[in-house]
Amino acid sequence: MNKLNDKVAIITGSARGIGFSIAEKLATNGATSVIIDLDQQAVDLAVQKIDDQGFRAIGFAANVTDQEQITSIFKEIYEEFDAVDILINNAGITKDGLIMKMKEDDWDSVINVNLKGTFICTQKICRFMMKKRSGVILNIASVIGLMGNAGQANYAASKGGIIAFTKSSAKEFASRNIRVNAIAPGFIQTEMTENLSQEVVDNYTAAIPLSRMGSADDVANLCLFLVSDDASYITGQTIQVDGGLIM
Ligand SMILES: NC(=O)c1ccc[n+]([C@@H]2O[C@H](COP(=O)([O-])OP(=O)(O)OC[C@H]3O[C@@H](n4cnc5c(N)ncnc54)[C@H](O)[C@@H]3O)[C@@H](O)[C@H]2O)c1
Repeated sequence: MNKLNDKVAIITGSARGIGFSIAEKLATNGATSVIIDLDQQAVDLAVQKIDDQGFRAIGFAANVTDQEQITSIFKEIYEEFDAVDILINNAGITKDGLIMKMKEDDWDSVINVNLKGTFICTQKICRFMMKKRSGVILNIASVIGLMGNAGQANYAASKGGIIAFTKSSAKEFASRNIRVNAIAPGFIQTEMTENLSQEVVDNYTAAIPLSRMGSADDVANLCLFLVSDDASYITGQTIQVDGGLIM
């Protein structure tokens, strides 16, 4: 039996990378995956890829920092399906630089997309989940939010913030049967990491006990478990998928 039969799952930033793998994984396990990403063409392509495999997906072009857009899309989804069971806050960006030289814009945009976007989507979905007294929210953080990284102060602050936000929302929503957890991926092969120099990749892999970068599917596998009823007694946690990078 499919773990997620008849569930509706919204995944932000899911036209590619980790988000797309999550959308694909949830759809192949019975859910209707709702793809949200910036570019309409990329969204359509992602929906098509899932559809071509015989699974269910729909898509919307939207920016997670746009409260009006997110409010109206979530309302439309709720009205169509009479439920929104799962929200995965995955959309994220990096704008790396040393603190001494970091532009205010690079600080603001990373905090806005990664942290404020997570807040906006959570706030806009929680009233529907509360109405149903059921729901699961999963936030994609990062090991950088746990350990920090030179040159990524904005990103580390946004991901550390997501981990704290996860705990607070888990406490606020538990009485309504809404679970909130976070995943902290390590070094995962996606477009976000593909432009790193071979030297940086070699240094990272040397520090990873399992001696390899992770795949988007490694993250999606944990995601499937955490959003399913198999994880019904787990909330407020941040779980690493990092090949043992930090322990
Ligand atoms: N790749 C890694 O090594 C790694 C490690 C730890 C955490 N993460 C986190 O995982 C998540 C996904 O990363 P990825 O590697 O797949 O990145 P990616 O760059 O390949 O994909 C991110 C997606 O988010 C979308 N997006 C960006 N800003 C958005 C916005 N404002 N509104 C809606 N969509 C937006 C992008 O268009 C893109 O499709 C991010 O939150 C990232 O921080 C990635």
